[in-house]
This record gives sequence, C-alpha cells and structure tokens, in this order.
Amino acid sequence: MANIDKIFDSNDVRWLSKKRLPNLIYDFIEGATGREIALERNLRSFDEIRLLPRSLRDVSKRSLETEFLGQRFDQPFGIAPMGLCNLACPNADLIMAEVAKNRNLPHGLSTATSTSLEKVYRISEDNTWFQLYVFAGVDSGLELVKKAQNAGCKTLILTVDVPQGSRRMRELRNGFQVPFKMGLKQFIDLSTHPLWSLKTIASGIPKPVLINESEDRFDRKALRVGATWDFLDKLRDKWNGKIIVKGVLSVEDAKRVKSSGMDAIWVSNHGGRQLDGAPAAIDALPNIRAALGSEFPIAFDSGIRDGSDVVKALASGANFTFLGRPILHSLAAAGKPGLEKFISIICEDISVVMAQIGLNSTKDINSLVLFGDQG
Ligand SMILES: Cc1cc2nc3c(=O)[nH]c(=O)nc-3n(C[C@H](O)[C@H](O)[C@H](O)COP(=O)(O)O)c2cc1C
Repeated sequence: MANIDKIFDSNDVRWLSKKRLPNLIYDFIEGATGREIALERNLRSFDEIRLLPRSLRDVSKRSLETEFLGQRFDQPFGIAPMGLCNLACPNADLIMAEVAKNRNLPHGLSTATSTSLEKVYRISEDNTWFQLYVFAGVDSGLELVKKAQNAGCKTLILTVDVPQGSRRMRELRNGFQVPFKMGLKQFIDLSTHPLWSLKTIASGIPKPVLINESEDRFDRKALRVGATWDFLDKLRDKWNGKIIVKGVLSVEDAKRVKSSGMDAIWVSNHGGRQLDGAPAAIDALPNIRAALGSEFPIAFDSGIRDGSDVVKALASGANFTFLGRPILHSLAAAGKPGLEKFISIICEDISVVMAQIGLNSTKDINSLVLFGDQG
C-alpha cells in the first residue's frame, strides 16, 4: 500500500516520516529541548481539555472560513515557520507555498529557509508571512526585513523566544549540523535510508540561504539577541505592514507587545524546543486573552495534532492556529500529496468536531464550548 493510503491522522504521518527519514533528520524535526518535558506537556494539556457536545441544532451549513489580520482564509489554521524544511523532502518550501496558495492558508517562511524568498513569494504572494530572527545587531535584522519586503512580504512574524538556540539532546547525540558532519554513525544512518539520501543529494543538500552566508556552516547556537524592546520600536517605525510577535507566554510581555503597536501576538512555546520548564502554550493562552481583551488578534501554536486541538485553541482564546511538526512529517511521509491529504484530514476533523459541539462557524467558537466553563 502506498504511504498516502496509510494516512489518517498525525500519528500516521509521524510514523511514516520516522520510517522514511534518517534518524538524524527525524530527530531534528520531532525533538525538543532538555528532557522534552515541555513537548510532552503541550500534548498532555490538550488532552486534558474537554469539549461539550451539544444536541438538536442544525449544523448542516458548516464553514471553516476564518479571518485573521484582515485576510480571509479557508480554514482556521496554517503552517508554522520552520527552518530547513527541505530536509523533510526536496522542495518542501516551494510545495508548502503552493499548497498555501491553493488551499488559501497562511504559511510561515523561516529566516532559516533554504529556498530563496523570491521563488517562494512568486508562488504564494500574500499567503506567505516572513518569520524574522534577529541576530546580534539591529542592522542585520532590518536588512533581512528589506530583503523580505523586496520579495513581496507584507506580514512579518518576529520570533522572540530564541535569544539563543537551545540544547536539544537528540541533535547533540546525533551530531546534527548543517552541512552534515559525516562520521560512521551518520554514514550508516543515511545509507540505511537510501530513498531519502539519493533524492536529497540529487536536489542539493539544503542549507540556509539568508543567514551565515559568509560561513559554510549554519551555527544554530548563534545568539539571536537582537530581538529587544528597542528593536521592536525600530521595526514598528520602519515597517508599514503587519507585525506578529511570536513566542509570547507571559501576560506582562503580551501587554507590552500590544502597547508597542504590534498587530498581533502569537502564543507559543516553540513546540517545546526552547525552554523545557515552560508552561504548555495552551495553558498560557486563556490568561493572555483575558489580559489583552476580546478584540486583539492572537495566533497560537505548540502541540496541535488534530482538528479537536484546533477547536480547543480557538475556544481558549486564539483567533488563528498553526501546526509545525505534523506538517513536515506529512511532507516526509508522502511529499505534496501527503501534505494535501493531511490538511484535508485536519479540515474534516474540525468540521466534524464543530458538528458535535453544535456550531456552523469558527467565529462562534468560544469558551462556552469547553466542558466546565459554561458559566
Ligand atoms: C523542525 C522545526 C524547525 C523550526 N524552525 C523555526 C524557525 O525557524 N522559526 C520559528 O519561529 N519557529 C520555528 N519552529 C517552531 C514552529 O514555528 C512552531 O512554533 C512549533 O513547531 C509548534 O509546535 P508543534 O510542532 O507542536 O506544532 C520550528 C519547529 C520545528 C519542528
């Protein structure tokens, strides 16, 4: 049976991805920081949230259309920005851009992309939002912004939860670095996954095109300390488009981001990849919503694995949601058809959950759909 026929949920894409990818790559995608407690906590916290079924309502006209930051999307979720996506499968960045355009969903393009911005924006235009890491020095950050603007970017995602790359044990143990370090362990790993290795070598081993251009190694530990409150003010002065600040978990930070004139915040713990002691992002969300009021736009990611999780995040205060790892696993599992199928599955899942909780529109998802929060 072809891989595509084996995909029914995020566990399937993860399992198929694990089979197809060298351990080195699978662990880069799936891994998290420290003892991976924050990663587990993200998933567990979603599991503990319950939705209240409602009966006898006409739910025959369900629609997933959702507006966020003045853009109308066909579903309430998008693709989170991820670096080095082409490691999952050749041309992953371009495939995601194409699928984002066709399915009308937002796609985050990372500073650590291995594909040129021009190529991506030519395909996806407004559906791609550029994610900015600011390394030491304000100017380097603003230079990247200019490149993104020249390529056609109108929405920036400023990631603020990576002052420094974290210690991820799977990567350390596997000797993960870009370009690859080729010892015996890595050689055995790659040669026991020949399909991935041959395809990747044929299409060129991915490396970041925007950063460390002068060096031949992508230093994931490089300080990204340029994202400060001062930088935020400078960015607001220079950039007329939308700015979303990604990686906020503190109510105090969230309030200051709002008062700095940003357009939205993105509640996230980076999928547990940065601070192992961090709260699950879904647990931080309700307090941030309460502090920012009902109108301020909030995006959310970290731990979403199915349609039910999307609904739970919207009910807990998010206006829009994003998925990270499952997207790359679907690409690793079955390329573009894998991603398309996975997106359709999440959409179907959301729609079925909406029927169960008695709603026709994502606009009507609020805390009253949560069991135990009916006032
Ligand atoms: C392989 C990988 C690379 C990532 N690279 C970036 C990045 O370059 N910039 C960024 O803001 N977030 C990055 N993230 C974090 C995602 O944007 C997102 O916050 C996280 O994956 C959400 O959690 P989830 O994987 O549980 O859905 C990365 C995540 C993964 C899995």
